[in-house]
Amino acid sequence: MKRKIKILLVEDNEADYVLFESLLQDVKNYEFDLQWTPYYEEGLAIIKRNEHDVYVLDYLLGNYTGLDLLKEALNWGCEAPFIVLTGIGNHQVDMEAMETGAADFLIKGEIDAEKLERSIRYSLERNANLKALKESEVKYRTVFESSRDMIFIADENGNLIDFNDSATKIFGYSREDLLKSSFSIFYYSEEEEKIFLDALRLTGTVTNNELILKNKDGAKKYCLVSASLQPSSEGKIYIFGIVHDITRRKMIERDLVIAEKIAVTDRLAQMLAHEIRNPLTTINLVVGQIEFDLPNESYKPSLDMIKNNCRRIDDLIKEVLLSSKVAKIQMNKHNLNELIDETLNFAIDRIKIKKIKTKKDYAADICEITVDAVKIKTALLNIIINAVEAMPDKGGILTIRTRKEEKRCFIEIEDNGAGIAKENLRKLFEPYFTGKPQGVGLGLSSTHNIIQSHQGTIEVESEINKRTKFTIGLNI
Ligand SMILES: Nc1ncnc2c1ncn2[C@@H]1O[C@H](COP(=O)(O)OP(=O)(O)OP(=O)(O)O)[C@@H](O)[C@H]1O
Ligand SMILES: [Mg+2]
Repeated sequence: MKRKIKILLVEDNEADYVLFESLLQDVKNYEFDLQWTPYYEEGLAIIKRNEHDVYVLDYLLGNYTGLDLLKEALNWGCEAPFIVLTGIGNHQVDMEAMETGAADFLIKGEIDAEKLERSIRYSLERNANLKALKESEVKYRTVFESSRDMIFIADENGNLIDFNDSATKIFGYSREDLLKSSFSIFYYSEEEEKIFLDALRLTGTVTNNELILKNKDGAKKYCLVSASLQPSSEGKIYIFGIVHDITRRKMIERDLVIAEKIAVTDRLAQMLAHEIRNPLTTINLVVGQIEFDLPNESYKPSLDMIKNNCRRIDDLIKEVLLSSKVAKIQMNKHNLNELIDETLNFAIDRIKIKKIKTKKDYAADICEITVDAVKIKTALLNIIINAVEAMPDKGGILTIRTRKEEKRCFIEIEDNGAGIAKENLRKLFEPYFTGKPQGVGLGLSSTHNIIQSHQGTIEVESEINKRTKFTIGLNI
């Protein structure tokens, strides 16, 4: 059965209503249920009941026009289509009707059944399309708003136009700050920005480009960035993009690699130590035998030398075996600022010898953290000693800052020394990586190990011949 299309006609001339009704009867393919009112106010009241599929409004309605009624109905939120009936030669009104939001207009005196049918069908179809478009916009808006990735639209020069809340969450800026900024504020290095923009301009799209960005505090954010250039209908070009934050994943990957290397080195050291012990025992036994067999005083210094060196080797082995055993950590509450001061005391002689100025910028609200104090002090001392060693004999400045965030405390140790080359930054925490002639290269690997066993984070930033900053984050 055909569904009846419900139409409301607002028309103050009864003769025109009768004519309209008879035209409707001639329309094939559809059945109609026509309601009529000659009054503006009653028309509006009926429209607000939202019961009709199509509204047909006469342009002249006493003191009002059909366009007044159309505007009021649209303001109220009516979603069904409107057709406005206008007079012959009133082109201005036709245009105005369409601009106001009418789906179509019909010229009185020229309407026949066919025109009427076409206009109603067209209005209904257009309305259905608009509705579908609105629904799909709502759908995409929801995806946009609820995405954990930052989704953004920027103009051709990268100025941000719109973005979802993840943008503020990932990078720590307020919405107002970002609306005044360009995407450039996220780049860690200008070089990367240029490479990325060149690739985007050349090919029009960039997919999952791994970039190092930075948040409001300047901390590194490892991100996969996809973007594409989209021309608009007015001929402008927009950048549409998605930023996926992989910082956590990166840190876990890096920590795993280092932990694996440490485990391998530890195993090797243990095996070697074990294997050396056997021949060492034999040497000790033979020396004892020689002493017994040749009680000649002239051999004594040489034999003592052998025995002393054997003892030294044995001590070294014991140390290696001990150091690679994971000692149980002793967690207790400590004030972070006090821990740092105690650590600095261990290095005070070296700091004085090099005439290094120490600047402390401690957060007053710093809290108690639950850590193994001995281990954390060792971890910090390794960093401080490196800083002292990297600084010149004159003009060295060691800056130590603490700050508190929601669930973490951060310690920054910065020096104005030699800096670390980019290619070495990756290897810094690996065991036995050293840039010093007398260095062992175990300091930072041990620091990393300790911070990791506290579920903390450690980050480095450095500029050659300028500065190096270590940032350590510890759970409260
Ligand atoms: N603040 C710094 N400034 C410049 N270079 C640094 C800094 N901290 C570390 N480095 C570089 O990183 C290397 C590794 O440091 P690490 O503490 O692990 O080993 P090390 O100091 O060489 O030896 P040790 O085992 O005695 O500590 C150093 O040799 C140095 O080249
Ligand atoms: Mg060191």
